Amino acid sequence: MGQFEKSHWAEPDFGRKFVESADIAIIERKRSHSVMKSFFRHHFMHKDGRIDLLDLGCGDGILTYELKQTGCPLSATLVDGSEEMLRKAEERLKAYKDIRTMRASFQEIIAGNALTQDFDFIVSSLAIHHLDLKEKRELFGWVYARLRNNGCFMNIDVVLAPNEVLEEWYMVLWQEWITEKKKEAGITGDIYGDTMKRYKDNRDNKPDRLDLQLDALKAIGFRNVDCYYKYGIFTIYGGKK
Ligand SMILES: C[S@@+](CC[C@H](N)C(=O)[O-])C[C@H]1O[C@@H](n2cnc3c(N)ncnc32)[C@H](O)[C@@H]1O
Repeated sequence: MGQFEKSHWAEPDFGRKFVESADIAIIERKRSHSVMKSFFRHHFMHKDGRIDLLDLGCGDGILTYELKQTGCPLSATLVDGSEEMLRKAEERLKAYKDIRTMRASFQEIIAGNALTQDFDFIVSSLAIHHLDLKEKRELFGWVYARLRNNGCFMNIDVVLAPNEVLEEWYMVLWQEWITEKKKEAGITGDIYGDTMKRYKDNRDNKPDRLDLQLDALKAIGFRNVDCYYKYGIFTIYGGKK
């Protein structure tokens, strides 16, 4: 059994529950999509021809869908370990041409043969933290190899705080976000109250410090490496080939 099959994401319904709760439970989800769209427009809007996009751990395809809204000609490949999530992505993107979905785990991708095409923009959202640091580094290396020159990588993801004091506060900040969003949505009761505990207790979550991930990108050869946005443990970072 592969790593993905051992994870909660291989269980029926786990993905559905994530999709249903994401707008409340994920800090600044819409904002992070806006930041990515701005980055995309800034780097790619002026280019001739179609942009080849790869969405790693695409889930229900929300990120590709949002990038499609920029109107920039885009040919997208969406990859996920879960067939269930890929079906949701196909449903969300059914109005668009130039969409290809593929079932593969990150481990299979790193191992080599699942994807051999080159891309202009490789993105991921809230998925790479399911890899340990060694696997993250291997995936970043794979991403670099698959990017065309001047291509970009951008990852929306959760990270580990630099120390326990900050980690503790970031959990409080997250709880405050959820309380605010619940109020706005008119949601009462204890629903979402255990979000942080479930995040911490989930063995599939393997967040690493942001500086280690930025260093890994730099060591591989990425330019313009930076954290483009941060709110507690929620970050957006990346670089250019
Ligand atoms: C939290 S969801 C994020 C989905 C989507 N990118 C979003 O932002 O809504 C994480 C996704 O990563 C996928 N995933 C988790 N571990 C994986 C692995 N080892 N290989 C491939 N996909 C994986 C899950 O199936 C799921 O669709």
